[in-house]
Amino acid sequence: MQRTKALGLLHKTIRKDSAMSRQGINDYLVTMRKPGANDEPIEHTNETFPVALWQRYASPVWATLEGSDGDGFHIITSREVTGNESSGINPSNTLQKESARDDDDERHIAPLQLSVIRRGIRLWSNPGDVVLSPFGGIGSEGYVALQEGRKAVLCELKCSYFAQLVKNLQSVADQERQQDLFASAGE
Ligand SMILES: C[S@@+](CC[C@H](N)C(=O)[O-])C[C@H]1O[C@@H](n2cnc3c(N)ncnc32)[C@H](O)[C@@H]1O
Repeated sequence: MQRTKALGLLHKTIRKDSAMSRQGINDYLVTMRKPGANDEPIEHTNETFPVALWQRYASPVWATLEGSDGDGFHIITSREVTGNESSGINPSNTLQKESARDDDDERHIAPLQLSVIRRGIRLWSNPGDVVLSPFGGIGSEGYVALQEGRKAVLCELKCSYFAQLVKNLQSVADQERQQDLFASAGE
């Protein structure tokens, strides 16, 4: 799996001069909270947020361990165990970005994995809350916010990304319309 074209991570660098190689850098989810009590608690029940699920969220590394190899290295996969509620995060589970590419792109956008966003939104917002994404990109945070029954405010500088962001948010409304249609057809 390759997420960037950074020279230090490419296998061709290992073949040419491994002195120029390095390990990949972790993504971190940084949280900040206003000091003091929370005026609007975000409550869950054993049914909506079972302890086994919390143990997976509380793990310092969101990965699926599949045992060890002969050298003692953990085998980690991005296998999603049960849909959105996975132990691991599938790096490819993002909104598609290709249609937002522009001729003058210096670097292409790095959309955040939808499962990471979904965990954050469920932990740190109530249904109906407004999720702010000041660096909106192609709208991944807004997309999941709408799917999870929140509202969203996004800012994006680049026109081609903004256009894709709007399409992505509209697609959530389309998904909901389709679900309503299937539900009323089933009645
Ligand atoms: C890493 S991307 C965000 C991707 C987004 N999380 C997603 O998954 O779709 C950062 C975005 O911030 C935008 N950006 C940078 N500076 C900005 C600014 N001052 N105001 C609004 N957007 C900005 C860039 O154009 C880029 O699309």
